[in-house]
Amino acid sequence: MSEDVDAEQEHPGIRPAVRETYGPSDLGHQPMFGGGFINFGYWRGIDLAGPLGEDERTRSQQALYRYVLDAAGPLRRRDVLDVGCGLGTGCALALTEYGPNTVTGMDVHPDQLARAREEQAVLLGERPGRLRFAEGAAEGMPWQEGAFDVVVSVEAAQHFPDLDGFAAETARVLRPGGTVAVTSFFAADEAPGRPGQLAGLLDTYASGLDIARPVTALAGALTAAGLTEVRTVSIGPEVWPGWDAWLSRWWAPGTWPRNFLRAYEEGVLDYFVVTATRPF
Ligand SMILES: C[S@@+](CC[C@H](N)C(=O)[O-])C[C@H]1O[C@@H](n2cnc3c(N)ncnc32)[C@H](O)[C@@H]1O
Repeated sequence: MSEDVDAEQEHPGIRPAVRETYGPSDLGHQPMFGGGFINFGYWRGIDLAGPLGEDERTRSQQALYRYVLDAAGPLRRRDVLDVGCGLGTGCALALTEYGPNTVTGMDVHPDQLARAREEQAVLLGERPGRLRFAEGAAEGMPWQEGAFDVVVSVEAAQHFPDLDGFAAETARVLRPGGTVAVTSFFAADEAPGRPGQLAGLLDTYASGLDIARPVTALAGALTAAGLTEVRTVSIGPEVWPGWDAWLSRWWAPGTWPRNFLRAYEEGVLDYFVVTATRPF
């Protein structure tokens, strides 16, 4: 039996590129990420001309989480779900800085959840019942209707195979008046050639790890699921130049990872925050 077949049997239902990237490849522990996060970062206030080290990199990733948590509205005494929680560091940040009642980190990959439980073991022990990690897919969440006041998701939606399913599940698990804030990268517009352009520029699209869709696909799905006040904001100017400056430590100009900035500058790709509310 090949290793691929073994892996598939071990984690059925997880798309192969996601299974590999967040399983054996353990993307979150590669030097491009670090600090316990796995996102491109929000670099406002960080001097991109100066030397960029681990501290700046971690600050950028914390800042992306804070942007989304702030966009989701007041979290004090709320029950918060983080979809695609990765190593759980964003959940820990939410719990320690925002005073919620509970934070639940959900991820489709059991290896990530094992890492999250290990990396957040001290906080899990210190705040029993306030922080938990659970296996579940964005498009099929293992929660009852109205289980949460707030749903957030940071740089995971580019992997979700079914944005309509994610939106419907988000609407279902939110209480009336609850809010959702999602950040990720999307095709910059609905032009039909964008998926082909992105696959040509970026290996993560060519491999199927990231799925090329316009941000209007998510906004439309949230509206169709019954959510209101759906708003989309581009934060590309605060993401792409910083991400590229950081990547320049490892990747020469012209190598494929440097094409993230190129795709943004050519109007093919952008980074967004999408927020919405479940009406009463
Ligand atoms: C780029 S990481 C982001 C982790 C974390 N939010 C952060 O910013 O540090 C994306 C995460 O989404 C998870 N993921 C991928 N597809 C998913 C799905 N369909 N449902 C839930 N989680 C998923 C992956 O396993 C991975 O841990």
